[in-house]
Amino acid sequence: MARARRIGILTAGGDSPGLNAAIRGIGKAAIGQYGMEVVGFRDGFRGLAEDRSVWLGRRLSGILTKGGTILGTSRDKPHRMLVGGEVVDMTGAVIRTYEKHRLDALVCLGGGGTAKNALRLVRAGLKVITLPKTIDNDVVMTDASFGFATALDIATDAIDRLHSTAHSHHRIIVVETMGHRAGWLTLAAGLAGGADVILIPEIPYDAASIAAAIGRRVRAGSNFSIVAVAESARNTEDAGVYRQAEARKRAASTPEQVMAAIGALATVEAAHAGNTIRLASQLEALTGLESRVTILGYVQRGGTPSAADRLLATRLGSAGADLVNAGVFGVMVAARGEGTEPVPLEQVAGKHRPVPLDHPWVLAARHVGTCLGD
Ligand code: F6P
Repeated sequence: MARARRIGILTAGGDSPGLNAAIRGIGKAAIGQYGMEVVGFRDGFRGLAEDRSVWLGRRLSGILTKGGTILGTSRDKPHRMLVGGEVVDMTGAVIRTYEKHRLDALVCLGGGGTAKNALRLVRAGLKVITLPKTIDNDVVMTDASFGFATALDIATDAIDRLHSTAHSHHRIIVVETMGHRAGWLTLAAGLAGGADVILIPEIPYDAASIAAAIGRRVRAGSNFSIVAVAESARNTEDAGVYRQAEARKRAASTPEQVMAAIGALATVEAAHAGNTIRLASQLEALTGLESRVTILGYVQRGGTPSAADRLLATRLGSAGADLVNAGVFGVMVAARGEGTEPVPLEQVAGKHRPVPLDHPWVLAARHVGTCLGD
């Protein structure tokens, strides 16, 4: 009798609500529908390189509603992993683990960076598919990624709560939301929560324009304001410096140029730390209204996934098992309308999806009179 086919699963990058629902979706479909075996690898690509695994069978029950990932995660890359204080190419070790466990496929749950690492493994001869997860909503070629809906609910609830205290104290409350390079979460939560000002990295801001908008609200009788700011939002001057540093990195060709460009970008990013606090002080000085800051941080990624994320993760996971069964590899399982679609990893790897300036959410925000900082 032929042995059962075997799937490996790992979760990589920052954790996102819905990861466990997706692990369960793939695992239950693979075992229940196709008689496969399922093994999980701990802590992303690091666990695969170090051969740290766990059988997923009975462990798939009772995890649908759990936050985080039962497998653990890391931002390690197979080809550049810190081992004993040195950066080592662990691709060979990853392949050895894959072969030792006699895997027929590897399913990686992650964002654009994970897709890039997965594509490297495909090129090294492994059979890999990915599922899109991120609270940032910035994975290309998919209608949705799990994690975003939950983070949006949490951030919106926070903005709702901040309204009553801002109103009572006649204050400006600047609330910082996550979003490494994209403003989807801030824009959506700001719209849903009725923020008066929404600042996203795609639209560089001018503090004087924000202060003017807050001033107009005061003259109209509202002496409080909620400013929703993405962690990566920048004023026009800083945005120019950041764009230049990014362009330099893209243009770098020799290893020396790449290292120098990475260093320069890291310096620019380090200088950005504390930006939200500086903005709040600036607005206080410009408007004369007392200002406070709330940084939502990791609260947005923690805890129970929303119903929408459980649904998305389950259908992407079960579609992933179907693709493995059909022998379709080198793809991301994208959400398309009510269904799913395999998208070649080449079209996803290392890419990210910023908010288009003419996106309906941007237009709706402008139409209801929200200041976008420009
Ligand atoms: O990509 C998801 C995300 O939560 C970003 O919004 C945030 O900038 C980043 O991860 C934080 O990463 P870490 O967990 O490494 O601090």
